Amino acid sequence: MSPAGSRQPLSLVLLLGMGMASGNISCPSGCSCRYLEVNCTGQQLQEFPSAIPLDTRQLILAANNVSYLPAVELSFLADLVYLDCQKNLLGDDLDFTFIGVVKLVYLDLSFNNLTQVTFSTFSQLLSLMVLKISDNPNLVAIEKDAFANNTLLRHLDVSRTGLTFLDTSTVQDLPNLRLLGLSNNLWHCNCSFLDFITWMTESSVHFPDADNITCYTPEALRALKIPAAEVQLHTSCQTHLHKEDYILMCLISSCIFFVGIVAAWLAGICAVIYHIYSSKEEEEKEEEEEDAVT
Ligand SMILES: *[C@@H]1O[C@H](CO)[C@@H](O)[C@H](O)[C@H]1NC(C)=O
Ligand SMILES: *[C@@H]1O[C@H](CO)[C@@H](O)[C@H](O)[C@H]1NC(C)=O
Ligand SMILES: *[C@@H]1O[C@H](CO)[C@@H](O)[C@H](O)[C@H]1NC(C)=O
Ligand SMILES: *[C@@H]1O[C@H](CO)[C@@H](O)[C@H](O)[C@H]1NC(C)=O
Repeated sequence: MSPAGSRQPLSLVLLLGMGMASGNISCPSGCSCRYLEVNCTGQQLQEFPSAIPLDTRQLILAANNVSYLPAVELSFLADLVYLDCQKNLLGDDLDFTFIGVVKLVYLDLSFNNLTQVTFSTFSQLLSLMVLKISDNPNLVAIEKDAFANNTLLRHLDVSRTGLTFLDTSTVQDLPNLRLLGLSNNLWHCNCSFLDFITWMTESSVHFPDADNITCYTPEALRALKIPAAEVQLHTSCQTHLHKEDYILMCLISSCIFFVGIVAAWLAGICAVIYHIYSSKEEEEKEEEEEDAVT
């Protein structure tokens, strides 16, 4: 039974697609193809392979030299739920790369050369549950709202990257998050990061390899584990606040002091004026009395 025969009105592209899919006639060279799964692990591929069956659900490109994922070719694989691209050379800008693979549940981009994650990188992946972007040493920035659309995310790994900072809002609003890898990063433990550390200590998310989640800077806190750093930071960030309060109090008290001086000065003048007037009145009265006596 040929699907091509029974679907005459469909366009040529679709016919070709159906043919490939139903017959499984194509499999990229060097890759092995099983039912709905294409595995191209370790084939020294430089480019995204062509002729991938269009009904593929699981695509494994691990351990190759792929530096670019073509969004259009990827979007032909509209049923893809599992994509493993670990150990490649993917870098720079992945924004809008995954625009056509909206059913993706599992995405592994670890051991690549990612540099940043923005809202547009993963915002189309509304079904995503597992995202691995660990071991990207040049990854230095993850935008605040990078995972705002990935509300089903359960497992997120950002270990062993160049990250120094993560905004609490990036992860705290993910209702299904169970596991968050944060170890061996270059965390900069300043007062802004205290908010994130506090969230960590209070959340029920599991942080694997907790012994390796440490401050990298400032020097004074280097290698300090995050729970211990919380106590230290709390103290220094609080004292910092007290200093500001102290300055404010000094300002207020000097204001009060000057207002007091001015008030005392005015009161003094009033007293003097009153004294002058009252003594004049007394003199006048005395004069009047003297006049009456004489
Ligand atoms: C990784 O990305 C950086 C910055 O874009 C670039 O300078 C470097 O050459 C890349 N490394 C590899 C191995 O592609
Ligand atoms: C992200 O989510 C918003 C609403 O939550 C939605 O309007 C938008 O289309 C989503 N973005 C993408 C690219 O799917
Ligand atoms: C803390 O460090 C982060 C990242 O280096 C920086 O963006 C932020 O402005 C710093 N906050 C303060 C209060 O210094
Ligand atoms: C912690 O990191 C070091 C390297 O910095 C590594 O050798 C060690 O295995 C890590 N610990 C765990 C439990 O993974």
